[in-house]
Amino acid sequence: MRVLVTGAKGQLGHDVVNELEKRGLEAVGVDVEEMDITDAPAVDRCIRGAGADAVIHCAAYTAVDAAEDNVELCRRVNADGTYNIARVCRELDLPMMYISTDYVFDGQGERPWDPDEKRDPLNVYGQTKCEGEMAIEKLLSKYFIVRIAWVFGVNGKNFIKTMLRLGKEKGAVSVVDDQIGSPTYTYDLARLLVDMIQTDKYGIYHATNEGLCSWYEFAQEIFRQASMDVEVTPVSSEQFAAKAKRPKNSRMNKDKLDEMGFERLPSWQDALSRYLAAVGGPV
Ligand SMILES: NC(=O)c1ccc[n+]([C@@H]2O[C@H](COP(=O)([O-])OP(=O)(O)OC[C@H]3O[C@@H](n4cnc5c(N)ncnc54)[C@H](OP(=O)(O)O)[C@@H]3O)[C@@H](O)[C@H]2O)c1
Repeated sequence: MRVLVTGAKGQLGHDVVNELEKRGLEAVGVDVEEMDITDAPAVDRCIRGAGADAVIHCAAYTAVDAAEDNVELCRRVNADGTYNIARVCRELDLPMMYISTDYVFDGQGERPWDPDEKRDPLNVYGQTKCEGEMAIEKLLSKYFIVRIAWVFGVNGKNFIKTMLRLGKEKGAVSVVDDQIGSPTYTYDLARLLVDMIQTDKYGIYHATNEGLCSWYEFAQEIFRQASMDVEVTPVSSEQFAAKAKRPKNSRMNKDKLDEMGFERLPSWQDALSRYLAAVGGPV
């Protein structure tokens, strides 16, 4: 099987390419240099030229706060870019996996979100990822939409790296304690995605590491596991005042993974310890 992976230089794409190769499958990893997804003719050329049997689409505009000021660019990448890929997949009858986000939901309540629940994003990034989902649903029947959340991987910027840096530089951090979700290690997620793409169990899935926490609790656990003495102060989303609004409830219902015979990911604490070992401990 030959799989084209977009966003191969990002956190998730990097690990998906590695996972495919580890299993003896062929991976064609592309990023903006090889295939700018906003360039429809380039997308067409590149997917046809790759001779792929499936596409795993990990590329995205992921700067959530910056997106509030760069609406057009964010939409071009996340919505139009996804449409461009889906259109070629339809013409070539290729299964497509689109990686989406908990940010398609409004974060109200405390109940875990079901995959088929109403989308109602709070910010520009979430809105454009939602538009990407709608393009896939409109154009394709052979698709996976996999919503993930709170991502960390060795290849790129993430919350853990930021905490380790701030902890080292300042010895104290303030972290929001009213957004609840599940951190997700791209190394673990890549295994599940490669399991999925080899099946025809199409549909919308939620996938994160197991267990829940707030960003505040996540930060505490990072410093505990890294044996760093850092003062962590809980603050509300309102006090933190990020540019983009974020959902407070990012609990995701993953029962569908069990129902469809897919293996869930390990706990986020276990994932964190393996991540810290992989990056060689504190920065
Ligand atoms: N990070 C999270 O917490 C999170 C949470 C939920 C869902 N997700 C979703 O998970 C997926 C993977 O996220 P990630 O954290 O691995 O993202 P990432 O590290 O930001 O990687 C995304 C990659 O896409 C590339 N890209 C941007 N614009 C492009 C374009 N026009 N054409 C081609 N490639 C382009 C980026 O290149 P540049 O770096 O040069 O821009 C980058 O290499 C994304 O779909 C994201 O929406 C992420």
